[in-house]
Parts: sequence; structure tokens; C-alpha cells
Amino acid sequence: MKHDVEVALIERILGNLAAGRRETANGERLSAVDAYISPQRHAAELSNLFRRHPVIVGPSSALPEPGTFLTHDLTGVPILAVRGTDGQVRAFLNVCRHRGARIVTEPSGKAGRVFVCPYHAWSYDLTGTLAGISDATAFAGLDRAAHRLVSLPATERHGLIWVRPSKAEAGEAPLDIDAFLGPLASDFAHFGLNGASLYAPVELPRAMNWKVMVDTFLEDYHFRWVHGQSVHKYYLDNASVYDRLGRHIRYVIPKRTLQDLAGTDPASWRLRDHSNILYYIFPNTVMVFVADHAAIFAMFPNGDANHSVMHLSFCLPEKPETEKAKAYWDKNASLIRTALDEDFVVGEGIQAGFASGANSHLTFGRYEKGLAHFHDIVEEAMTGA
Ligand code: FES
Ligand SMILES: [Fe+2]
Repeated sequence: MKHDVEVALIERILGNLAAGRRETANGERLSAVDAYISPQRHAAELSNLFRRHPVIVGPSSALPEPGTFLTHDLTGVPILAVRGTDGQVRAFLNVCRHRGARIVTEPSGKAGRVFVCPYHAWSYDLTGTLAGISDATAFAGLDRAAHRLVSLPATERHGLIWVRPSKAEAGEAPLDIDAFLGPLASDFAHFGLNGASLYAPVELPRAMNWKVMVDTFLEDYHFRWVHGQSVHKYYLDNASVYDRLGRHIRYVIPKRTLQDLAGTDPASWRLRDHSNILYYIFPNTVMVFVADHAAIFAMFPNGDANHSVMHLSFCLPEKPETEKAKAYWDKNASLIRTALDEDFVVGEGIQAGFASGANSHLTFGRYEKGLAHFHDIVEEAMTGA
């Protein structure tokens, strides 16, 4: 984020505090319960939201050197991403072109020169080219070029790996992440996750719709009650500012210390020292920047409308090498996991209650402006608006 944007956001928050003003939504917004439980809606979201747009499969540091790979199945599409000997990240469908076996079964690792299918040992190089066929005389007429791994559009940008889980059309332009991010691109260019070190990635499956998971991030109205014993003490109540930026959201949750900036020199202001800077990145990712690190929370449907999985990755300024550094980051991860668990208990209860019929819709109030933005964005994408 450019410094003048940081200063403008801090001045905006300080101005609101001085005036006793809150940036609220204009009114209440209803959100249909059906959208959280319907199997038809679930299927439509998979195709409209999770297949057509690039998703973040991890930070660049998840593929730290040539030959390192990761597999990612959370969109329902088996993705294999690998960093080639040329340093470039490529993604493929993790499906053998012989009889369709899953080629790479590990979540991550380092490949040699080729990937070898475990079924009949066909091999593919790191660019997806079919490199070898065992007992090749049995396939004398096979067009090898037509049997390379199927590529998926993939790129690296702002220290993140982006993959679109649907095949590229012939002649399609490469992914343009800055165009996709729109106004967020400038913020990310300045935050720079390039060079960040991936720490303690984890998948957290829970019995709730993926949108309930996202909902927990987009308001702080609940902090006092749900996080009363953990993180609430650090934050100002309902003093946040929200900006919908295209299909994404920037949401700044000020800490109590931000008030101390009033009357000081803006040249020294650093927004992330005094707030959580949270981005919702369409369709399913929340990134949070705090004083000394960032975290990626990517939410995916998991089998049906009532289940989801969160892929959580911490991005640290450098790899923790000492026991002291590891202890520090473990403590930080544990604090965040505690807050998440507090949210998950509520979220699973919400999902379990949907079927009761008590509510035909949820009601987002004026302090829950981020939820209104998020559901507006999702509904627009679902209807092609
Ligand atoms: S399915 Fe991969 S080699 Fe046969
Ligand atoms: Fe929460």
C-alpha cells in the first residue's frame, strides 16, 4: 500500500473517531439461507466462482526452488503446480494421459527430472511434456505431443501463486492478475509478499458453508463477545472502514493504538502497525496484513454446501531459523488459531441451525457492511451482473 493511501486511511479513521462517526451501511441487507445450504446453489458456485477465476494456491515460497511442486485439490480440480528449471511456475491437471491415474500423490515435495505416474510409469517432465512410456512398443502409433499433461493457466504475482482451475482456450491470453485485482494491485505491489517465507500451512475442514467462513472475517461487530477473552482487547469497537474495490474489498480494523497517532507526524505513520489490513480477494480468499507478517486464509467448499475447508498460510518476513524465532511465530499462530476456533464454533452452530427453518434469511446490520459487500459481489458473479 502506498504511503499516501495509508495516511489517507489513518486520517479517515481519526476523523471518524474525533467526530464520533461510524462508517456504516445505509440499511440492513438480507442474505438468503438457501444460498448456504442448497445443493443446486453449491454446484452453481463451483462452476461460476471456483472454476472460472484464478485462485491463490499458496505464496511463491511454497515453491521455493526449481523442481518443487505442490498439489491442490480444494477447488475440486486436481491441480499440480511446479516450478520449472527455468524458475517459472506452471500448473497442470494432476491426471495421467494414459488412463487417468493421479500422477503426484504427495501434497508437496521436490521432483527429479520427471514426474512418474504410479500406475504404469509413464513420465512427464516439469513442463508437462510426455517424456517416457514404459514398454513403448505397445503404443507405437501414439501421438506423444497430444498426450502431454493438460495445462492450467497459472502465474506468479505479488509473491502469490495463482491458478485458474479450468483449461485455457486455444489462443487465450495469459492470466493478468493486476487486471483481475484492479485497484488492489497497487496495494499489493507495495506490500510485497515477494521473498516472504511460508510458515505452518494447514488445512482446516469444518462443518459450515464456505461463505459462513468468509462471513466471520468481514465484520468486527462480534469481537466483543466471541473474542472477548482473546483478541478483542487490541481493537477499537466498530471503528473500521470498508472499501469495495471492484470485486474485492479492503477492510481496515483499527487497533486501539491508532488513536495515539493523532497530532503526530504522518511521515512516520505505518497503517499495519496500528490495524489489521484485511483484503477479501474474489472469490474465496482473505489476506490479512499486520505489523510483522501476513496471513492467507483461502476458503473452499468441501464436498457439499454444508462443509468447507480453510487453507491457512502464514507469510513471514524471513524464515525463522532460531528456536526463539520459531517460538515467537508459533505463539502468534496459536493466537490466531484460538481466534479462528472461536469463530468456527459459532460458524458450525450457524450451519447446523440453517435446516431448522428458523430463518429464511440472515440480516446484516449497519456495522456489517463488509458482509453486504461480499454477498453483493458473490450474487453479481453468480448472476453475471
Ligand atoms: S495411468 Fe498413468 S501410466 Fe497408466
Ligand atoms: Fe472472529
